Amino acid sequence: MYNTQLTQDTFTPQARDLRVCSCDRAQMNSSEETSPTVAKKLDALPRIHFTSESISGDTEIYVVEHEEFSSPIEIVSGAGIGVTPYTKLLARNIPSNLAGQSVADFGTGTGIQAIVASLLGAKKTVAIDISAEAVSLAAQNASRNGAAVEFKQQVNEIPETEEFDLLLCNPASLPSDGLIGHFFDGGEMGNAMIFRFLDFCVRNLSSSGHALLVHTSLVPLHLTQEFARERDLDLSFVDLEVTPFRKFYSSILERLHSMRRHHGIQYLEKDGDLYELLYVIRIQK
Ligand SMILES: C[S@@+](CC[C@H](N)C(=O)[O-])C[C@H]1O[C@@H](n2cnc3c(N)ncnc32)[C@H](O)[C@@H]1O
Repeated sequence: MYNTQLTQDTFTPQARDLRVCSCDRAQMNSSEETSPTVAKKLDALPRIHFTSESISGDTEIYVVEHEEFSSPIEIVSGAGIGVTPYTKLLARNIPSNLAGQSVADFGTGTGIQAIVASLLGAKKTVAIDISAEAVSLAAQNASRNGAAVEFKQQVNEIPETEEFDLLLCNPASLPSDGLIGHFFDGGEMGNAMIFRFLDFCVRNLSSSGHALLVHTSLVPLHLTQEFARERDLDLSFVDLEVTPFRKFYSSILERLHSMRRHHGIQYLEKDGDLYELLYVIRIQK
């Protein structure tokens, strides 16, 4: 295991091969807040494999094979509610054995993270999405795969006294300020839903549990770190991936250029293509 400093220089597609980082609180609180230390992980994450097939229009079916599943599961996406590189990154970081654990998935979309958690043995799985269409699609996907998932549209429907062992979130987090649809829109700086999730952690994460959050380098990481620090949440980086910009980012490109100049977000241009870096952040109280 060896460490490397995550800087613009390490922003290469080869960073795809990097796995797990450990970044303790002291490092997170250092002046290099946006340069977490990462290390190559020697032990493998669970094997998970996605294939997709277009059904009609923007409806696709994703076949997900997981080493812990006896047969593949099928996730239907559509109506702007999809499966993305962010989705896949979070799904492969869900711990393989959730027997006896309670799990909540904030911003469930197609329901994929909640369904995977439920099928990995969680004793209780709650999925939350503000979008009624997403809840309906996710409920159909859960029933299609025989996964026991409870659905809610508002996080406040969960009692303050309820504690979860594992909280999951792949947030809508592009800094689009309404320029793109709600599935991806994280508000002006991209961090509106991230902050809601951190507050959810404060309220409903058990002291022995942890949360997993996908965070793009297109959102100011130092603001997330400050917000977490103010709430006494401990952050560490457990996985990362470099992924190319998707076509629809063209509508927020000017905004991203400006945020890179003024708010310290990061992305790489290489051979005419732009790349963002995705982190999986582990959160504990
Ligand atoms: C990027 S998608 C992630 C979907 C899915 N979890 C995945 O991994 O593919 C974000 C989801 O969060 C939902 N969302 C946005 N704001 C929300 C909020 N305040 N409360 C709950 N869900 C929200 C959106 O409707 C969308 O389905």
